[in-house]
Amino acid sequence: MAEQTVMEKIVSLCKRRGFVFQSSEIYGGIGGFWDYGPLGVELKRNIKEAWWREMVTGHNETVALPGAPSPYDMVGLDTTLIMHPQVWKASGHFDLFYDLMVDCRTCKARFRADHVDDLRCPRKPSKAPGEHDECDLTEPREFNLMFKTYIGALLDPSSEAYLRPETAQGMFVNFKNVLSTTRVKLPFGIAQIGKSFRNEITPRNFIFRSREFEQMEMEFFCAPESSADWYAFWRDRRVAWYESLGLRSERLRLREHGPAERAHYSCGTADIEYAFPFLPDGEFGELEGVSHRGDFDLRSHMEGKLIREGDQLVVERDEDGAVRHQGSGKDLSYFDDATQQKLVPHVVEPAAGADRAALAFLCEAYDEDAIPDEKGAAQERIVLRLHPRLAPIQVAVFPLVKKDGMPELARELYAELKGVCTAAYDEKGSIGRRYRRQDESGTPFCVTVDGQSIEDATVTVRDRDTTNQQRLPSSQLASFMREQLHLA
Ligand code: GAP
Repeated sequence: MAEQTVMEKIVSLCKRRGFVFQSSEIYGGIGGFWDYGPLGVELKRNIKEAWWREMVTGHNETVALPGAPSPYDMVGLDTTLIMHPQVWKASGHFDLFYDLMVDCRTCKARFRADHVDDLRCPRKPSKAPGEHDECDLTEPREFNLMFKTYIGALLDPSSEAYLRPETAQGMFVNFKNVLSTTRVKLPFGIAQIGKSFRNEITPRNFIFRSREFEQMEMEFFCAPESSADWYAFWRDRRVAWYESLGLRSERLRLREHGPAERAHYSCGTADIEYAFPFLPDGEFGELEGVSHRGDFDLRSHMEGKLIREGDQLVVERDEDGAVRHQGSGKDLSYFDDATQQKLVPHVVEPAAGADRAALAFLCEAYDEDAIPDEKGAAQERIVLRLHPRLAPIQVAVFPLVKKDGMPELARELYAELKGVCTAAYDEKGSIGRRYRRQDESGTPFCVTVDGQSIEDATVTVRDRDTTNQQRLPSSQLASFMREQLHLA
């Protein structure tokens, strides 16, 4: 049997340990949709929580962070998955959010035009689309990636709506609500975490490209003259966030887009990329995009869909001069008390994917090594070296054996640790097997209650990465875990 690739091993571990399952698996699955299992849901929650703390709840608006042009305010939002259809017309998604596709008139298969050479035609033997004599490919045609749905009972064009393909628009359309209900002043950010949907033509590479996924986006509103500095600040700060949670710099990179690659409204875009193991050596995949969007978004929702004419963004009009897609007509400008001037703020947007982040952290953490068993013989093991803050289970508690008061003491400690972090209790199987199960789950610490614990109220704490054990008074366990998780 061919040896499994690293990616296949990671996918298999995710299934075996309950990180990620194929959606609707008992019915054969559904392409591009994934469920998070008991461990996966904790990993993703920890990633989202770390992001939310970094962006919103942990942010101190009274000081300027290192590298920031000034202090700034930050608030959060949670907006709907379905928004007024005009949102997507004014934003440009209705006209421009598409992939170019080619269809085969013979076998009815559909392929992304820019991937035709890498894809396989459903006919046998395996060849690229167009290579069989029977293939009859169309010219590339536009295929909008937004999922369409209907609101209410009538299935006609007047009730058409879309599942949001990004969370960002929820922040733009609430700009005035945030200004009028909070005390934020420019510069400030609005952050949101939530599901987005894209009818991806070729969902692939596990949870890297799916049709339903979660985004962690922040729209940062600032004065035009400081926007370039804020762009640089957010770009660098976001890279540092991934590093702080364990992504190594040689697999992580920041890539600035050249002018040809940028969206027509963008004054600067950089991708934070990771060398995912499913990619050929030297190739990187996007984890997050940081974009300087100028005043494009707020103006679009005021004036209507914008297009570029020379170095200007102007409202798009049809042959009769009518606005192609109307904006809201509402005034989304900001009144600056200091200058007594109105302005349309510029936007810097760090847009991350929670699923891609989960995949990158899993890929980075996956490792195989050999450790001695109870008899000193080297045993191969699979270990997930997840950062303790991201680990689905942060500490596991075991009684060495199921007698002599050990389970009772272990359960007491388990109950106490549950108040501090995510904890698991396990008394089944040999201690070696229990350690191994936690290593595969990424649990950074295992606490064992043994015979000595009953006598002197100390326990062993095993470190997942080194497998070294230290003896600690059980009364210090809670503070030990707080320290490890930076909760002290
Ligand atoms: N508001 C800007 C925006 O949505 P994007 O680059 O299209 O920008 C941001 O998406 C992030 O969302 C990406 O960097 C990626 O992490 C995640 N993402 C986008 N499409 C995805 C998909 N089909 N599956 C999983 N994650 C996706």
